[in-house]
Amino acid sequence: MSSLLNAAASVLHANWRQSFTIPCEGLYPFQWNWDSGFIAMGWAHLEPERAKAEIRSLLRGQWSNGFLPHIVFHNDSDSYYPGPEVHAAYLSEYSPEVKTSGITQPPVLGFVLEEVYRISDQDPSMLSFINEVYDAVYANHDYFYRYRDPKGEGLVYICHNWEAGTDNTPVWDFIWDTFEVPEYDLPRKDTQLIDASHRPTNAEYCYYIHLIELFKEWKYNDAKIAAQSPFLVQDPLFNSMLIASNESLIRLGELIGKQEAVSQLRTWNSMAKEAMNSKLYDQQLRGYVYYDLRNERHLRHLSSSSFTPLFAGIPAAPRAEEMMNHFRNGNFSGSQNENLLCASFDPASPYFNSKKYWRGPIWINLNWIIYRGLQKYKLNEEAQRLKEDTLYLIEKYGFYEYFEPSREINEALENGYGGNNFSWSAALTIDIIKTP
Ligand code: SER
Repeated sequence: MSSLLNAAASVLHANWRQSFTIPCEGLYPFQWNWDSGFIAMGWAHLEPERAKAEIRSLLRGQWSNGFLPHIVFHNDSDSYYPGPEVHAAYLSEYSPEVKTSGITQPPVLGFVLEEVYRISDQDPSMLSFINEVYDAVYANHDYFYRYRDPKGEGLVYICHNWEAGTDNTPVWDFIWDTFEVPEYDLPRKDTQLIDASHRPTNAEYCYYIHLIELFKEWKYNDAKIAAQSPFLVQDPLFNSMLIASNESLIRLGELIGKQEAVSQLRTWNSMAKEAMNSKLYDQQLRGYVYYDLRNERHLRHLSSSSFTPLFAGIPAAPRAEEMMNHFRNGNFSGSQNENLLCASFDPASPYFNSKKYWRGPIWINLNWIIYRGLQKYKLNEEAQRLKEDTLYLIEKYGFYEYFEPSREINEALENGYGGNNFSWSAALTIDIIKTP
């Protein structure tokens, strides 16, 4: 294990850029929001000052209305499309001095703060850092419940597939079916850097860019987006991250005397948990699914996101138990346990593709989230299996961006998929090894 830990540390050191960490050389050359959250946990094990710097750098990109963008462009780079000029966040009256994107990503910072405090062994200097950034992270939650829950349900929406984090999950195919987009000229860089068959298609990218063009036309105004965006989805992963972060902010807020914030967070959180269970749980599929707010329909598909409510303690124990069928002899394990856990999309679906980004491959951050969720419910066998499968992939291939779920294909395979030396794969491996 110590050589794996050293190799993981080397990846983080190589991707460190003065005050933040890039996810992957070439492919992702700026600071990404949820990447930074997971990366900060890795740094907390190695060099806590860097964990603090990582989070401070991300918060430099926060908008004055509390919004936290998915990319902060601290530096220049021509190896990524779409860059700052495509996002044009300056069109919003709330954008900060530093260049950013105008869409967000799953809100992990709240629980990351609690994790880095735990990793530091309750170090008072880490608590004073938490005190320093608490209000900014709270302001981000306030932004979500204020602007992204138009019906006051306790569930917030995402308006772009990149906000989900699960960029090209087949679930979005059913949204793309509902509107048409121009054929843009796409100066893509990603498909020159890695195998294009492992990345989203150009046709999908036209949708991604079109949504950004619409938001720019509306100057990133939240009310216009809520009223008109053709992509408006309540996503189980996104809401689970927000709920887990609410809970961490409640516990941390109690420690540092933030009574007003704590009581507001409690109100949001009880509504949110209730709505997750009553609206997003699918009894038949035995998992949490997506709700398309624009077209008022559930998108009834299982993905790794369907299991992330475990991490936030959302299902009652019998429901968590019932979800385990997928991991025992169900679709995600395969009837003969022929798949490693946990594919990013239902392996029994005709839309599953084991090599293509979020349409099937295993991702280390989702594995970490689900692993922690299983531990919370004392589903120890499944947790152990998830841990073993994760470390098997990392030991066999190194710190790739995503991995093949099929055991059989893995036997003959030489590489993981996507970018190599990927920061969150390294950071979360450190945490998985070091945390009992
Ligand atoms: N993950 C996206 C990309 O592939 C951006 O957030 O570029």
